[in-house]
Amino acid sequence: MGLYKSIMEEITFYTGLSPTAFFTVLAMMVVVYRTVSAMFVSPEDYNKPPVVSARPDSRFAETEPLREPVQLGQLTDRQLRAYDGSDPSKPLLMAIKGQIYDVSSGRNFYGPGGSYAMFAGKECSRALALLSFKPEDINGNLEGLDEPELKILEDWEFKFVEKYPKVGQLVPEQRTQQNELKEQIEDNLENPNE
Ligand code: HEM
Repeated sequence: MGLYKSIMEEITFYTGLSPTAFFTVLAMMVVVYRTVSAMFVSPEDYNKPPVVSARPDSRFAETEPLREPVQLGQLTDRQLRAYDGSDPSKPLLMAIKGQIYDVSSGRNFYGPGGSYAMFAGKECSRALALLSFKPEDINGNLEGLDEPELKILEDWEFKFVEKYPKVGQLVPEQRTQQNELKEQIEDNLENPNE
């Protein structure tokens, strides 16, 4: 008790404040310090890249050995979709400007649960050019893109050429007889006099 009393007396003596006022000021200083320091990031943390892939599927874990990329030749959009990570026995593919890349080594990005999983099994040129994740932009349609957007797309293409093996080319869906007949009928309906 004597110690407690003498500490309180020392506080009053040195600070000119009552112990209650002293501890109130101290508590306020701690709160201000913590609030202000929370607004800043340490230089080490600042330089760390943001965490992009949330929780990639363990079947695509980076620890699993990578298969050798296999040349697949020509694939249609529909065939490419089978390589979206839903079947772990297949590589992860992605197409840019009609060229298909095996992006399996980037499975933390493109595998199920990865931040860019929506691009797997798809032609992504438009989305990459527009920096868009909208499903309606995930295709190879370059119509209406301006110069800066085409430049962005080219930069992505360079990145992919350097980083991932090219394993095929995208080709248009094969025209089935049924489709051709349908198109002919539609043409005739639109231009009945031709
Ligand atoms: C908030 C904005 C964004 C942040 C903070 C961000 C961050 C990152 C980071 C840190 C990486 C890893 C880079 C590396 O290790 O090589 C990355 C990769 C990637 N980002 Fe983003 N990103 C953002 C927006 C976008 C957008 C808008 C797109 C396209 C629509 C995009 C597409 C990609 C792709 C495709 C990769 C993987 C490239 C590869 O396979 O190496 N990102 N992003």
